[in-house]
This record gives sequence, C-alpha cells and structure tokens, in this order.
Amino acid sequence: MNRIKVIIRSLLFKLINFICYGDLPTSYYLQKGMIIGNNFHRQTGTKFDPSHCWLISIGNDVTIANNVQILAHDDSPRFFSDYGKLGKVRIGDNSFIGARTIILPNVTIGENVIIGAGSVVVKDIPPNTIAVGNPARIHCSIDDYLAKCTREMQVKDKVFGKEYCNRNLSKEQKEELISACKDGFCYIQMGKVIEYGRKS
Ligand SMILES: CC(C)(COP(=O)(O)OP(=O)(O)OC[C@H]1O[C@@H](n2cnc3c(N)ncnc32)[C@H](O)[C@@H]1OP(=O)(O)O)[C@@H](O)C(=O)NCCC(=O)NCCS
Repeated sequence: MNRIKVIIRSLLFKLINFICYGDLPTSYYLQKGMIIGNNFHRQTGTKFDPSHCWLISIGNDVTIANNVQILAHDDSPRFFSDYGKLGKVRIGDNSFIGARTIILPNVTIGENVIIGAGSVVVKDIPPNTIAVGNPARIHCSIDDYLAKCTREMQVKDKVFGKEYCNRNLSKEQKEELISACKDGFCYIQMGKVIEYGRKS
C-alpha cells in the first residue's frame, strides 16, 4: 500500500512540475542519451536542451538549482547558411549550478565548482572554483569561499540546527531566523545534498 502511495505521489509530482514549469522528467533525458551521474538533484524549471540532450553529461553529486538552461546546440548560423552548430556540455562531479544560469554549448565545468545565480557560462570553468556573472568569470576558489562561510558561522546566534531545515517552520522559528538575518547571512544545518536531497 505504501509503495503504491509513493508511486502515485511521485507521478503527481512529475505531472505538476510538467504543468507548472514545463519540466520533462529526468527519465526522459536519460532515455534520449543524456548522461547523468549518481545523486543528481534538479530543482523546478530546469531545461536540458531536449532535442540535443545526448550531448550533455553530468557527473556525480551535482545539483542544478531552479530555472537553469543548458544548451547543446545553436541554430544561429542557420539564418545565414545551411548549418547549425552543436557542442557538448560537461559538468564535473560535486558541482552546484545556481538559479537561472544559462550554460552555452561547448562548455566544460570542472569538478567542485559553484556557478553563481544568473550566470551565463560561455567558456570552460576550471575545477575547485566559483564563477559568476555574464560572461561567467572566476570569482574565487572553493577553499576561499568555504573559509569565508566558516568565518561567518563563528558569529554568535548565526547557526541553527536541523530542526530549522523544514518547510513548516513555526512563527517563532521564522522570527528567530528573520532576526538572525538582520545584518547578514545565517546558516542552517541541512545535511549534505547527497544525504537529504530528492533524487529526480
Ligand atoms: C556566488 C555565490 C555562491 C556567493 O559567493 P560569495 O563569495 O558569497 O559572494 P559575495 O556576495 O561575497 O560577492 C562577491 C562578489 O561576487 C559578486 N557576485 C556574487 N554572486 C554573484 C552572482 N550570482 N552573479 C554575479 N556576481 C555575483 C558580488 O557582486 C561581489 O562582487 P564585487 O567583489 O565586485 O563586489 C552566491 O552569490 C550565489 O550566486 N549562490 C547561488 C544561489 C542560488 O542559486 N540559490 C538557488 C537555491 S539553492
């Protein structure tokens, strides 16, 4: 009975995402030949060039935030000639692609990379870096970024436990978090994505 409930919930979830965000299920992309590693997480509104997704490969432990577009073809030359262009897109293991990023064809993103929200990635991004902007350029190393996060977490009353990682927070919990964010970021213990995230 439980198994049936899980299947129905998962189908409903996929249907709602399709209707609301135009999301094709990950199984569609896999069937078309896109390569996707283990522990892949995608948020809503992500598009993986449905007609050419077989040119896209994604490593293990990758998260794609909402409304990301990955393009593996470019028809612009067709307006002046008979030809369109194709190019592979590769995303290395353990990388995070921020919300509303656009990744153009013929781009390799290395391992352990964060792409900032709203970036347009037009060239390869080396491993262990953070890249932001349009066009996306290296902003710092992952180590520097994590050191900065660690420093921010040393500040009193800025770090909250797992009980705050919850969509149904109480009014009091929300007020606590709002107050903790009044002069900068606060942090919530969420577990590594591979431990808690939804597998699509
Ligand atoms: C890139 C990111 C990881 C944070 O990096 P950070 O080191 O804390 O960034 P800071 O806020 O200190 O900014 C550092 C510089 O990068 C720039 N920057 C930061 N994020 C940027 C972005 N997304 N696009 C363009 N520039 C950005 C800042 O303007 C700043 O530039 P400056 O040095 O010229 O003033 C974060 O900004 C980001 O984009 N995270 C993704 C969020 C997301 O997609 N969430 C979806 C839900 S999970």
